[in-house]
Amino acid sequence: MKALEEKILRADTLEALEAVRVEIFGKKGYIASEFAKMKEIPGPEKKAFAEGLNRLKAQLQRIYDEKREALKAEALEAKMRAEAIDVTLYGGRPNKGALHPVMETMDKIIDYFVALNFSVESGEMVEDDFHNFEALNLPKYHPARDMQDTFYFKDGMLLRTHTSPVQIRTMKSQKPPIRMIAPGAVFRRDYDLTHTPMFHQVEGLVVDEKGKVSFANLKAILTDFLHYMFGDVDVRFRPSFFPFTEPSAEVDISCIFCGGEGCRVCSHTGWIEILGCGIVDPNVFKAVEYEDVSGYAFGLGVERIAMLMHRIPDLRSLFEGDLRLLEQFR
Ligand code: PHE
Repeated sequence: MKALEEKILRADTLEALEAVRVEIFGKKGYIASEFAKMKEIPGPEKKAFAEGLNRLKAQLQRIYDEKREALKAEALEAKMRAEAIDVTLYGGRPNKGALHPVMETMDKIIDYFVALNFSVESGEMVEDDFHNFEALNLPKYHPARDMQDTFYFKDGMLLRTHTSPVQIRTMKSQKPPIRMIAPGAVFRRDYDLTHTPMFHQVEGLVVDEKGKVSFANLKAILTDFLHYMFGDVDVRFRPSFFPFTEPSAEVDISCIFCGGEGCRVCSHTGWIEILGCGIVDPNVFKAVEYEDVSGYAFGLGVERIAMLMHRIPDLRSLFEGDLRLLEQFR
């Protein structure tokens, strides 16, 4: 009895215990072989022998059951320990994309004007001479065409050099009043720290009955817009020239890097040029056959603004697709 009990208690795995079970309780096991001895036991002792054997069997069974439960619990414990997941471990982040800083800046600009009820128009990137130049008061051989180094196709078509042709397309397809912006890519033969051959502009145009649109309106909206974009900066309107506006102005903000003290970014002037604008030239209205109207227009470079807002020193880096740069804008 003691030896059998020991055997059960020494089994240290479920497999070992099973072997012991067969040895004790199996068809050819110890208990079975003891019962087989019954026929040799003399009649009067049979009962006592059988009772003793049954008691032993029940006792061993109880020890076996207890041991089996203990081993099962141990095995489950070990399995759980082996399969455990440490939820506090660093798991890494999913790789999420993000808007390119140029598009993010463009969206911010668009949001401002959409809130003021401007429609968002688009035109053609491959333009003809009429929409890109002629209708914008830039006749052939006009010296101001040199301001914009143009990519031409063999058939005389060209890549638009600014978004101003969208002014013409919108006015030709809609009646006044007009209150529009036109965001989009434009192209010029330029490549240096502050110029890439493709960049983005947002054009603006407001046209209404003669006398309803003034330079004061233009000045007010652009000043407010620049405060929205750059916060508390000084805004300066500087007389300039564009063939399609008269009078024309370029708009500067006080340098956001040095606060107007003068630094490398603002070429020690304290000012940074942000956009061009003006009152729509009568010749533009003539080209689109608009009469008795007045209007203002403006055009701004999106990369320039993105560059200033994010302090990116080389504009070309925006288009190199280098993830080390782009990842900083997530
Ligand atoms: N089209 C001009 C440019 O590309 C910007 C501009 C737009 C100026 C509208 C005045 C009015 O430089």
